Amino acid sequence: MATVTNIQDLRRIAMRKVPRAIFHYADRGSYDEVTLKANKADLAAIALRQRVMIDVSERSTATTMIGESVSMPLAIAPTGLTGLFHGDGEIHGCRAAHAAGIPFTLSTMSICSIEDVAAAVDKPFWFQLYVMRDRKFSESLIERAKAAKCSALVLTLDLQIQGQRHMDIKNGLAVPPKLTLANALDIATKPMWAASVLMGKRHSFGNLAVRKESDSLTTLSQWIAGQFDPSLSWKDVEWVRSIWPGKLILKGVLDVEDAKIAAATGADAIVVSNHGGRQLDGAVSSISALPKVVDAVGDKTEIWFDGGVTSGQDILKARALGARGCMMGKAFLWSLAAGGQAGVAQAIKIMRRELDVSMALTGVKDINQVDRSVLAL
Ligand code: GLV
Repeated sequence: MATVTNIQDLRRIAMRKVPRAIFHYADRGSYDEVTLKANKADLAAIALRQRVMIDVSERSTATTMIGESVSMPLAIAPTGLTGLFHGDGEIHGCRAAHAAGIPFTLSTMSICSIEDVAAAVDKPFWFQLYVMRDRKFSESLIERAKAAKCSALVLTLDLQIQGQRHMDIKNGLAVPPKLTLANALDIATKPMWAASVLMGKRHSFGNLAVRKESDSLTTLSQWIAGQFDPSLSWKDVEWVRSIWPGKLILKGVLDVEDAKIAAATGADAIVVSNHGGRQLDGAVSSISALPKVVDAVGDKTEIWFDGGVTSGQDILKARALGARGCMMGKAFLWSLAAGGQAGVAQAIKIMRRELDVSMALTGVKDINQVDRSVLAL
């Protein structure tokens, strides 16, 4: 196997290791993928300012996100279906994150349940909530997150209705995975995946196991269409706020007007995000939205960023534009698919080294001193 030096290497390994439908779920975006591409292109277009002859022998990437100490300003984003990329993927991901000193977010749409992860790790993780049509059920998820001692709730705002991902439909992506004639050959060439996921004990949405509907799944998108609630409004955010007394992170804000409303809820952080280019195709890239949101409400709440973060340089750029922290989704799933817990540990290490070296080459010793002056604007 070729030497892994960057996140793209892990992506290529993931492509070989997991079935097409699973790989595409992580890798692709909605509709024409204009926003997915803009996320990457706009990040790449930002130039860093090279500085020389500054003593950078002592450096630190350590900081805080919502008051929690982190070894670098990066958290694992909530990603659906994580346990289909590697058996017990959520547990592997959480362990790797905690060992590296960064936070892990468990998705509502995870394969391992809140309780499975809580039983397997010894530090608190974060839980991401989708408020579904059945508010009683959503409330029970919040209660379960409290019982599991989750240290923050990440409430996703940008998926009241799902943006179509063509590949998921073409691939017939289903949970639990279906063995069809069309994908049998593909699965036959992925024996390690079959051993880890198909022969493992968890194949469906762990948090939703108590619900009858989750047994009769057809395709993922059909199921989501039935469960997700287009009537959600800021009143529901207030409702969540009233029953979750802990740290609250609102994820999926791109517009300054929305950011003002989100900040007024008293949330501890807002994640500037277009759901990794998976929702409104044609929306602006999240890196182009970031400085506007920071300028509007950055003094009221922490502003975080996701959308194309695949290197330490990306983290440095986001931090320079005012993001207190970043989240990684795709890079996490690729590395998990590539190598389980060790793969995720490797991805975090790669990004931390890239961040550290890039800081040094921009003449900055401490991540907490990074500001717009590291950019060649
Ligand atoms: C779910 O959050 C997804 O983006 O598929």
